[in-house]
Amino acid sequence: MLSRSVARTLSSQSRLFSSSATRQTKVAVLGAGGGIGQPLSLLLKSDPLVTSLSLYDIRGAPGVAADVSHIDTASEVNGYAADQLDQALDGVKVVVIPAGVPRKPGMTRDDLFNTNASIVRDLATAVARVAPTAHILVISNPVNSTVPIVASTLDKAGVFDPAHLFGVTTLDVVRAARFLAGISNANPRDTPVTVIGGHSGATIVPLLSQSSYGKAVTGEAYEKIVHRIQFGGDEVVKAKDGAGSATLSMAYAGAKFTNALLRGLNGQKGVITPTFVKSPLFAAQGIDFFSSNVELGVNGVEKIHPIGPISAEEQKLLDACLPELKKNIEKGKAFVA
Ligand code: NAD
Ligand code: LMR
Repeated sequence: MLSRSVARTLSSQSRLFSSSATRQTKVAVLGAGGGIGQPLSLLLKSDPLVTSLSLYDIRGAPGVAADVSHIDTASEVNGYAADQLDQALDGVKVVVIPAGVPRKPGMTRDDLFNTNASIVRDLATAVARVAPTAHILVISNPVNSTVPIVASTLDKAGVFDPAHLFGVTTLDVVRAARFLAGISNANPRDTPVTVIGGHSGATIVPLLSQSSYGKAVTGEAYEKIVHRIQFGGDEVVKAKDGAGSATLSMAYAGAKFTNALLRGLNGQKGVITPTFVKSPLFAAQGIDFFSSNVELGVNGVEKIHPIGPISAEEQKLLDACLPELKKNIEKGKAFVA
């Protein structure tokens, strides 16, 4: 008989990782020694769709790799030191990037730009050289700018494939489901919410009207939950009081998105989740990266779904999102140009 806690762990793992397909894949984590990188590496080691895990950081990755490698799942794990980035990227199909500094109280994500832009650009340059067909999942903030930085860097190197680049906005989706469940007395499994736009404050646009539980939330409760979804990151930054931002919930969200991508790459149909990609939806307004529901398939981005019907309140949120998102995207592009 399984103990209750083991049974609980297994059941929550099966919720995080679905593995209906059998093909497996080499995944690299760049920034594996950090607050997100370590638990993310742990969760990816538990994902049956990951064959091989390549852990890189400018400090600490070999230690994390030695530790994680003792876990009794089939994948092999290798750690790489600061001067071994090219080896870390050799043969990888998926690269997850949580490298970079996190916020402290009082900072916006955009305040991280000066430090993180060059970190992300340099890592993207290496991916372009060593693993030009890899799928790249960007966690490093500000996501609204770091994704365009990666795109422009790959483009400059002549290897940009828009179907292979993703800004990870899954934490917004995870938070929205959790917060909606909290006020609806429901299980988060039953309260999924599509979150569109970008990943910072007003650019985060939850579409509660498209959810049966969500459309029941009105008035002050609606204002409050929208604010909490948009500023959930600040809640954690404040609570950590100078020690950084969300790491554990982000590792969960990063592993969840990676698993969704791997299922799509392995041919599973109907894998649909919001992610920040090169998108035609608002390109006419000069906004060529946007998060909306995306179907993931054997080539990465299979289909970008339209945002669908939205309420008058959501239209207002979208109107506030677009100009800010445009600025963030242009800042990223200008950095590489
Ligand atoms: P952290 O400081 O704990 O870890 C960052 C790691 O990156 C460190 O281990 C550091 O050594 C490493 N690093 C720095 N430069 C590097 C380089 N050139 N190559 C490889 N590794 C390098 O920070 P964290 O809490 O893990 O957060 C990392 C990033 O993720 C931050 O920018 C944060 O804002 C962002 N973040 C994004 C989301 C999201 O939803 N997308 C959520 C939470 C945090
Ligand atoms: C989050 O949403 O938690 C992350 O983007 C980290 C942050 O700076 O808030």
